Amino acid sequence: MSFEPKILSFLCNWCAYAGADLAGISRFQYPPNTRVIRVMCSGRVDPAFIPKAFLAGYDGVLVLGCHPGDCHYLTGNLQAEKKMGLTRKLLDMAGIESERLLLDWVSAGEGERFSQVVRQFIEKVRHLGPFPLDGEMRGKLQAVKASLEGEKIRWMVGKGPELMERENVYGELLSKERLGEMIETTIRDELIKNRIIQLVETRPLSATEISETLHLKLKETLTYLVSLVGEGKVGFDPSEEGKIPRYTRNI
Ligand code: FES
Repeated sequence: MSFEPKILSFLCNWCAYAGADLAGISRFQYPPNTRVIRVMCSGRVDPAFIPKAFLAGYDGVLVLGCHPGDCHYLTGNLQAEKKMGLTRKLLDMAGIESERLLLDWVSAGEGERFSQVVRQFIEKVRHLGPFPLDGEMRGKLQAVKASLEGEKIRWMVGKGPELMERENVYGELLSKERLGEMIETTIRDELIKNRIIQLVETRPLSATEISETLHLKLKETLTYLVSLVGEGKVGFDPSEEGKIPRYTRNI
């Protein structure tokens, strides 16, 4: 039996949503696999909606906004580009196929283009197959979601460009490359920490067990654990006193 992908589409009210309407009126055909959510701007799509959609059983997520320069809120689509780029990075780092997320531009007059973009994306997801939503993948998606909802990543997305424009206290300007490195390190750290939290939430684990599950060096795992214990997010399992310390989630 052929697989019919379930797609969640976020369409900007001012362009892609109207483009979808035009596609319907003009009888440009596209498969009925997508569930549409109308948003006022592609910039309104919170990155955390993406892992949530996969957790809810969707196989792909499509975000369609106005072409660059045409956003009704000036830079909403540029914000969307940054947010979705970062989300894709996080998905890749977590071992989740980031091709299941697509951001593209469709204007109100591009009915034919709308049907083309949707058709091509459905075909791509069909080729990828059903989203492999098993227990491990759920854990990964929860960690991606928690990372995207965290203050650090939100701050980086919002303040990133400002950091390149304004000198720091030492009178230095941050280069694009340096900012990219900082973002990369931050999202990796956040993802690993959230993966650890999500793992010890299920059952108490030793540092060795965590490092083996996450394929991390023990020394690196311990550094993250020290930081999480310091932040009060992870603690020690009291029932295991005197034995190898096991870590558990601090509620
Ligand atoms: S208003 Fe359409 S992307 Fe911003």
